[in-house]
Amino acid sequence: MESKVFLGIESSCDETAVAVLAGDGSILAELVLSQMDHAAFGGVVPEIAARKHLTVLPGMVRAAMYQAGVGFGDLAAIAATAGPGLIGGLLVGTGYAKGAAIASGVPYLAINHLEAHALTARLPSVGPVEFPFLLLLVSGGHSQFLAVEGVGRYRRLGSTLDDAAGEAFDKTAKLLGLGYPGGPAIEAAAGGGVARFGLPRPLLGRAGCDFSFSGLKTAVAQLVAACGDGALPKELVADVAASFQAAVGDVFADRLQHALGMMPKASAVVVAGGVASNFLLRARLSEVAGQAGKSLIAPPLRLCTDNAVMVAWAGIERLRAGLVDGLDAACRPRWPLPRGPL
Ligand code: KG4
Ligand code: ZN
Repeated sequence: MESKVFLGIESSCDETAVAVLAGDGSILAELVLSQMDHAAFGGVVPEIAARKHLTVLPGMVRAAMYQAGVGFGDLAAIAATAGPGLIGGLLVGTGYAKGAAIASGVPYLAINHLEAHALTARLPSVGPVEFPFLLLLVSGGHSQFLAVEGVGRYRRLGSTLDDAAGEAFDKTAKLLGLGYPGGPAIEAAAGGGVARFGLPRPLLGRAGCDFSFSGLKTAVAQLVAACGDGALPKELVADVAASFQAAVGDVFADRLQHALGMMPKASAVVVAGGVASNFLLRARLSEVAGQAGKSLIAPPLRLCTDNAVMVAWAGIERLRAGLVDGLDAACRPRWPLPRGPL
């Protein structure tokens, strides 16, 4: 095992996360602080998020390094999320990482958040999955199938034509008067409901593996409006949540079947991003992957949602591939995969 360690920093949205990994990918420390300040606004307020990152990040780095039993002299490199995400938070995380990299005399790695989600399944404790694999990335901002052929080598097979899957969960939760973030709230509510409403399954059976969720969201809005004014009864909320989740499950299953047809040589199917923590969706995906003779690799829940372990690990993978970034590397609020220049 290499004695030098990797520091990862994630601050692209409303989670401040810090992790310390050994060079072989074993996790020495991982901390995540979820900002609860945004719940009252029904979504993330960028300026509040950036200020909170700035307040907590230095102390979290010290705490993570203390927990890992290492100091700045033990670092091999520092990796921070440089996009896509909210620019204020990205500037806080990358600014800190660059400063610490200069002070410690180690390389700086600008990590693409989507690439970090994509490579999580290659962590020794999760997979490890061999290249090439088929990735379904489903988060608050993205829904896409990628052929992951190597570090930095991604081919987009399909993506959403409108809303991201997580966005559909969040918007539907809002319509149902459930809390933010909507995904976990819908999953919890659906557990006690019956999927008795026939909601649309957009693009089902269509060629390719694109997604569309806006029609589904509109159908839920119409259903809720038809139920009259005021708060919906709890049983009805549960039934609508269950119906919504079942529709998304059908869409995921169908789209995966098509994506597998487009990448028959995939070693496995990997699912990543916050929506990948949903158990019903995992079960549907696992069933379809199994029918094609592939296994479904889903990271543990804490590594599906935003975290810094994935950032440090992407840094390890990129450094191994000789892909270091300069200190002049910028942040990119929009930064799709395949990774374009910074
Ligand atoms: O990857 P992530 O933590 O942050 C982004 O990079 O976007 O994903 C957050 C998204 C949110 O939209 C949230 O509602 C959704 O993931 N999510 C879920 C679940 N847990 C989180 N969606 C469905 N079911 C869940 N259990
Ligand atoms: Zn994410």
